[in-house]
Amino acid sequence: MEYLEALSLIHKILRPRNYLEIGCRFGHSLALSEAPSIGVDPDYEIRVPLRAPTRLFAETSDIFFQRDVASLMGGPIDLAFIDGMHNAEFALRDFINCERTSHAEGVIVIDDVLPRDIAHASRVRNTQVWTGDVYKLVAILRKFRPDLIVETYDVEIKGICVVSGLRPGDTTLMDAYPDIEASILRGDYQPETIEEIARVVAPHPTTSLGAELVRLDELRSKRNYETGFTHPNLAKYQDGVMNYRYRDIPCLKSAVDIAIYLRLFGERRPASIIEIGSKHGGSALLFRDMCRAMDIQTQIVSIDLAPPALSASEGISFLQGDAASLEIPFRQHGLFDLPRPWLVIEDSAHSYAVCTSVLEFFEEHLCFGEYLVMEDGVLDELGLSGRYQGGPNRAIAEFLARKPQSFEIDVAYCDMFGQNMTYNPNGYLRKI
Ligand SMILES: C[S@@+](CC[C@H](N)C(=O)[O-])C[C@H]1O[C@@H](n2cnc3c(N)ncnc32)[C@H](O)[C@@H]1O
Repeated sequence: MEYLEALSLIHKILRPRNYLEIGCRFGHSLALSEAPSIGVDPDYEIRVPLRAPTRLFAETSDIFFQRDVASLMGGPIDLAFIDGMHNAEFALRDFINCERTSHAEGVIVIDDVLPRDIAHASRVRNTQVWTGDVYKLVAILRKFRPDLIVETYDVEIKGICVVSGLRPGDTTLMDAYPDIEASILRGDYQPETIEEIARVVAPHPTTSLGAELVRLDELRSKRNYETGFTHPNLAKYQDGVMNYRYRDIPCLKSAVDIAIYLRLFGERRPASIIEIGSKHGGSALLFRDMCRAMDIQTQIVSIDLAPPALSASEGISFLQGDAASLEIPFRQHGLFDLPRPWLVIEDSAHSYAVCTSVLEFFEEHLCFGEYLVMEDGVLDELGLSGRYQGGPNRAIAEFLARKPQSFEIDVAYCDMFGQNMTYNPNGYLRKI
């Protein structure tokens, strides 16, 4: 299979919402896209008709990524193809930039990872066919980001790599970039023979590409709301949640979700946490102290129909308000001016109507990349969601079906301990 055939299969099976191509040159691969597309190439010279609405940028990818790419794309990148400058450090920068602008279920395809002749793999172009040393990126990704799913295929002449399981907020590669670049330039990651390169890249035959893409597409699109908790254990676990205390104040949080929140706060570093549903105030106290422990300057605003009688706590404002009419406390207390980024935690009535109203309010008021956590979809599994007209799960499912461009489910948080091993199945939502 040659690379245009492989790329065409990728478009057909994944049906991306949008497409970014780094290195579009004559437009042969760009022409395969049917989704709104962007092509980047300082020397593009499009020779074939393009099918999709496409914007072209005659600049290097490093310059391009200084732009607000998500706004240009109309949302996070869904499918990217990296075929720009054929040196490993350039392709690595392209990867870092694509991943940080993608969403968690986005896919990044990298060209030229499997040279067939050692002369093609040179850092300087001396041959007609030239893959350069992009193959080094495969070893680098596998070494520094074992969490990514990095699959390679023996596409004719140059190979391709399909990367999924993205984590847009992960900074591992960016932090290590200076060291990685130095080691590339020192000659590391550079096997002597073409056989050795193939052993490191370890490609699958292209005959398996179609089936593996279908599996990937299922992972991207099919998520049910079952949690990872099984029934006999869930009842006891729920007893623990309902009796949990922080600083001797009831704090109705699942232990797994406390661990997920710790990661979420550490990675997103919210300047404001807006909690809807304070109850006794234990969770607001816990969130404040978690942020303080990580030197995150965060203001906590916790809103409840009946705010707790907790004495005023530094860094936390307990306010009276109804989750179904958030406009009122937001105007009354100047909350629209709270510092960004915001992180919203909906933990109030849990009814379908109130959850939907909170989603609607924050769809309008959150910025790109901010988070809303919809708590307690586990009610379904506790057999209680009937009392809440379907509760958070129904609210999320219907809202996302109606407005697919509003939020995306961040599977990196939902699935941190196994698929939906959380009290908030599909409830870690990122504004897109
Ligand atoms: C599950 S408790 C919150 C638990 C707390 N966040 C914790 O983890 O410790 C739900 C709270 O939401 C409040 N509540 C219920 N309906 C509400 C609404 N429409 N607007 C605001 N708060 C509401 C209740 O008064 C109750 O205190």
